[in-house]
Amino acid sequence: MLSSNKFSDYIIIDSLKKPELFFRFMREEDLDIILRIERASFSAPWSKFYFIHELHVNKNAFLLIMLHQVRYEEIILGYTDLWKEKNILHMANFAIEPRYRNKGYGASFLQFCMYFGDRLSIETIKLEVRVSNDSAIRLYKKAGFQITSLLKRYYIDNNEDGYLMVAEVKNSIKLLQVLI
Ligand SMILES: CC(C)(COP(=O)(O)OP(=O)(O)OC[C@H]1O[C@@H](n2cnc3c(N)ncnc32)[C@H](O)[C@@H]1OP(=O)(O)O)[C@@H](O)C(=O)NCCC(=O)NCCS
Repeated sequence: MLSSNKFSDYIIIDSLKKPELFFRFMREEDLDIILRIERASFSAPWSKFYFIHELHVNKNAFLLIMLHQVRYEEIILGYTDLWKEKNILHMANFAIEPRYRNKGYGASFLQFCMYFGDRLSIETIKLEVRVSNDSAIRLYKKAGFQITSLLKRYYIDNNEDGYLMVAEVKNSIKLLQVLI
């Protein structure tokens, strides 16, 4: 179901319904584009230094990007940083390039993450989201995430509360198969 061949860092999941999308591990050379998306997406963006730490130091991190190809050029549509914390996958970062939002790419990337987690024998995936982030919360709920707790003043840039949201991987795979 999920394979990556030894000549590349692309990850192939046969069950995904979108053959035009490609997924691979992030490389340092992607960081200029990733940082542009990051800064356009978050009020407290991660720094280049932090991404490099995630790429090279954090052994529990899976930095993944979603892309499509136009002629022979790769266009990065979005990225995520998944932390494997024992038997839970923690989605520490997730963004879609602003020009490509509201086209279903966020849902497709979540679907990929669920299959990726399943391949690692992960049963549960969790994330934190700002209470004001309506579009993300709607997407996560459609993908089977449920709010399990309120994180008071979780975001230090503006003291905003967050929600902890949790999904069961196998349930989300089923829901997203219908949604996409
Ligand atoms: C949250 C985020 C990842 C969602 O990505 P996205 O690609 O826009 O997600 P989708 O396109 O799958 O879904 C978004 C909306 O588009 C709609 N949509 C999907 N396909 C569509 C299409 N072909 N035409 C029109 N609308 C469509 C969905 O129904 C959904 O609508 P809703 O919000 O009314 O429910 C993106 O907005 C983002 O990167 N935000 C900034 C970073 C961020 O907040 N990350 C999350 C941190 S926890």
